Amino acid sequence: MHHLNSVAELRSLREAWRANGQTIAFVPTMGNLHAGHLSLVEHAKQLADRVIVSIFVNPMQFGANEDLDNYPRTLAADQAALISAGADALFTPTVSDVYPRGLDAQTVVEVPGISDILCGASRPGHFQGVATVVCKLFNMVQPEHAVFGQKDYQQLMVIRLMANDLSMPISIHGVPTAREASGLALSSRNGYLSEAQRAAATAIYASLQSIAEGLRNGMPQDALIASALAGWQDVGLTPDYLSIRRQADLGIPSEQDTHLVILAAAFAGTTRLIDNLEVNFTEVD
Ligand code: PAF
Repeated sequence: MHHLNSVAELRSLREAWRANGQTIAFVPTMGNLHAGHLSLVEHAKQLADRVIVSIFVNPMQFGANEDLDNYPRTLAADQAALISAGADALFTPTVSDVYPRGLDAQTVVEVPGISDILCGASRPGHFQGVATVVCKLFNMVQPEHAVFGQKDYQQLMVIRLMANDLSMPISIHGVPTAREASGLALSSRNGYLSEAQRAAATAIYASLQSIAEGLRNGMPQDALIASALAGWQDVGLTPDYLSIRRQADLGIPSEQDTHLVILAAAFAGTTRLIDNLEVNFTEVD
């Protein structure tokens, strides 16, 4: 596996592969790789001749009181995992490579309408930071395909809209969430959890499943949400949000909407965890 530290090295490898007619699938990450990330690499390998993974802990998407400084950085283990997974290249730019004029002077990408609801309401500026860095990484790597996890449902939608709005010639792919046997969605932030918090956090996916079941049985949305929140309280989870939305635009669904997604964000101690579950009803005439 090639390890590329600079944009110049990345470009020259990219050009050599392009000259051989090889296509690229790109997996952007912030490192501390787990089985969920490796499933993105596996998916990427099916899409293109070469797979490039980036590891960059992006300061622009962290708020002032968030975990930027403590975010787990595990480069040696990540490199070993990527070699086993069969990635062709790892790109690890520095903050000054990505933001040469500093964060405050950086041109930004804002995807309107969707960036300030749900996670965006709790984390102001987060999706601007995500859209900006992903746009920059896309311009550096110039892939034909890019692969993201569906656990970050809203992020995936922001990136799809950005790529579409800015006419980027890149196909965006979402890969289903990898889970522990308990149902807990894999996340780099799970490493912050105590055993008790990890056990409590399993209530997040369990509540998504019971809300989905209730929706299929025609139960009222408000009652389903209230009951799930009571369950969270019982195990000591603090809700950020728990909401049933339309898949198309994450708006509030009407009675007629048939493609829904239940989105959750909760704190186990100080660790913020997110998850989601789609619910599709068959349309009847
Ligand atoms: O999902 C992530 O790990 C990050 O938000 C991403 C897409 C790599 C951008 O920094």
